[in-house]
Amino acid sequence: MTVVRSRMGSRVEAVDLQRQAQDQTSPHRGFFDDTQREYLLVHGQAEKVLYDLPVNSVDCCVTSPPYWSKRRYESSSGLGNEATWQEYVSSLVSIFKGVRHVLKPGGSLWINIGDTYLNKNLCGIPWRVAFGLQDDGWILRNSIVWDKIKGNPCNSKDKLRNVHEHVFHFVQQNKYFYDVDAIRNAPKKPRYRNGRIVSPTGVSGSKYEQQISQSKSLSSEEKSAALAALRETLRKLERGEIQDFRMVIRGQQRSTHSDSTEFSGRAGELRARGYCILPYHKNGTKPGDVWHIIPEDQWRKDSHYAPFPIELCETPIKATCPENGILLDPFVGTGSSLVAALNLGRRGIGIDTSKEYLTEAGHRLHRTSSSIGSQDKLF
Ligand SMILES: C[S@@+](CC[C@H](N)C(=O)[O-])C[C@H]1O[C@@H](n2cnc3c(N)ncnc32)[C@H](O)[C@@H]1O
Repeated sequence: MTVVRSRMGSRVEAVDLQRQAQDQTSPHRGFFDDTQREYLLVHGQAEKVLYDLPVNSVDCCVTSPPYWSKRRYESSSGLGNEATWQEYVSSLVSIFKGVRHVLKPGGSLWINIGDTYLNKNLCGIPWRVAFGLQDDGWILRNSIVWDKIKGNPCNSKDKLRNVHEHVFHFVQQNKYFYDVDAIRNAPKKPRYRNGRIVSPTGVSGSKYEQQISQSKSLSSEEKSAALAALRETLRKLERGEIQDFRMVIRGQQRSTHSDSTEFSGRAGELRARGYCILPYHKNGTKPGDVWHIIPEDQWRKDSHYAPFPIELCETPIKATCPENGILLDPFVGTGSSLVAALNLGRRGIGIDTSKEYLTEAGHRLHRTSSSIGSQDKLF
């Protein structure tokens, strides 16, 4: 079964279509040639279908493979039902070789994966998969903890409730597409208190002024320079050139990572000048690597057991899939990643072994497309 949907209207081509059109062997070439088509759902095993797609045709992959030893999916190839975790890791590493086949060199791979207990022993599956992929040449950029906030009830009387999963971000080379400004937290505005500007986190500079003036570690020249730098930083805050700041003063605060000049540039600055200023970016702070997102349970009532929340896909897509780019999910299930992609103006390809889930995904994508006003074409 293959479902393709298209949106009428002008779109800038973000992918190298010429390169893709040259790939005469792909049965799905039509999707890549026509940027009006919003998504492609392909029924089959990822390990095979990936090699039917043109090389270097996808900008980003966001996916959640079947977890090991957790549940049996309808029409599955057996992935997740391997006898040992070693076999499971090696199956996944092999499938992600197929992802590398279609991913552009500057493209990213994001994997959400959960853990499993075996004879009371937590297997550490996410990290075993991550190490397997690193050994296969992938570069691991982030390990994100997805805090599920609510989690499931746990009857066990000798361990804690499990409320997190991992999301790993991998790339293939040191330079890759990453739009950091697209994911920054919206900057907060400073305010005024008793005529003084105060940063969004409450820094007015008065405590730093006091520490500098009373410092036994700074010379009088260093004190003057530190006070001048502090005043200039407060002016920058007022002009909106920075969003917030911290100051590190010799003998008062520790340099952020290490006091050793060998490991920390800031420690060197502190030793030489007696202070350093740490400004926050004016466009907002970067998100951290712990995400607090409540799991999706809407689909659990219907047909699918483990859809991941659309929100989980948003940061990966905004940061690593260019606008109008193509997102791939080789285990698309009910299509959460593709719904997120369409909502954000990207196109998407989903693969799954279950016709039932693909039908569900098709309905969801149809509704998503309709709500953003496009026409569709199915074949
Ligand atoms: C954890 S679920 C993904 C859920 C998905 N993120 C969603 O939003 O619904 C894993 C999916 O992988 C599919 N699957 C299992 N083995 C597969 C294979 N070899 N190739 C492609 N899909 C497979 C299952 O049918 C299932 O839908």
